[in-house]
Amino acid sequence: MNQAAAVLLLVLLPACGGVRPSAPASTPLTPSPPAATEVEPLAAAAAPARLVGAAVQASLLRTEPAYAAAFAYQFDYVTAEFEMKWGQIERQPGQRDYGRADEIAAFAEARGLRIKGHALVWHGDSPAWLESLSPPEVRIALEDHIRTTVGRYRGRIVAWDVVNEAIADDRSGLRDTVYLRKLGPTYIAEAFRRAHEADPDALLIYNDYGAEGRGRKSDDVYNLVRDLRAQGVPIGGVGLQMHLDAASRPEAADIAGNMRRLAELGLLVNISEMDVRVARLPGPLATRLEDQRRVYHDVVAVCVAEPRCHAITFWGFTDRYSWIDQFYGPDDPLLFDEAYRVKPAYNGVLDALHGR
Ligand code: XIL
Repeated sequence: MNQAAAVLLLVLLPACGGVRPSAPASTPLTPSPPAATEVEPLAAAAAPARLVGAAVQASLLRTEPAYAAAFAYQFDYVTAEFEMKWGQIERQPGQRDYGRADEIAAFAEARGLRIKGHALVWHGDSPAWLESLSPPEVRIALEDHIRTTVGRYRGRIVAWDVVNEAIADDRSGLRDTVYLRKLGPTYIAEAFRRAHEADPDALLIYNDYGAEGRGRKSDDVYNLVRDLRAQGVPIGGVGLQMHLDAASRPEAADIAGNMRRLAELGLLVNISEMDVRVARLPGPLATRLEDQRRVYHDVVAVCVAEPRCHAITFWGFTDRYSWIDQFYGPDDPLLFDEAYRVKPAYNGVLDALHGR
């Protein structure tokens, strides 16, 4: 039974009078948790030191009022879950559709929320037609994409994930992508330079996963951004995606050490796509959600303790809509349940933001 059904049953059970006659109809068995719009906004708890946001989908903001209301109430930082990715914007060469990206930007601006652009260069959602181009044609297409997209939102988007997931998982160095194959390793520095030309005020970020704590991939990311800084490339930050499995997560002390060494390079760091899977944990859901609360608390507390950790973004906010279900299998990875009610995870984040 999923979370929403459980909540519904909890709410309806008394009303159907006598499924389990022990409890009188008017008294709910357990008090249902408060709604996301009835508790302290996480953004307020974090301000002014840092931004707190979540990834959103334009179609849900447009069609689901409860989703839009819960998001706008809780957060002050917006990332488009996929609407600003190159593969979504330019399906055919030269035909750009910014409709859904504009929707998200307008939603944010109407409510005074800051926007992070995600992601200009990512092998996971790039136009398929790039493969058929020659290297010089790919360079021109990429430069056009960056100039046009960053230019369109100049002064409106405060930060961009310029390059996402360029490091291979197997220590072979840079990931084998259409960009590496067609342009060579300098594509990363070039992308940052083009983005900076298009909006000199935007914070430009390198974003990746599996490099949150200490380890070989974390070292590879560190070396990449250290070298970019040394070359004078206008990179200003690193995003640690933080897609965690509660059954095997990095130690908080390792995350702290990693954030600190990146900060010492003069970079800002952010938690860019946090969610915490609990499906592989043993025990009943309530116990697993308590574990989840601790993970959210401990990781957010690391960011709160690091002066150069300037933002925290969750990859969604309600278990009703999470990419995890599709990519990893059914799970309850986020802060609010499928009925937009508070989960222990929300309290973990709130406590950490308050230094509790
Ligand atoms: C995911 C989205 O959540 C899905 O909706 C989409 O189908 C695929 O991409 N790393 C990233 C994100 O940087 O952009 C990815 O988002 C998840 C992993």
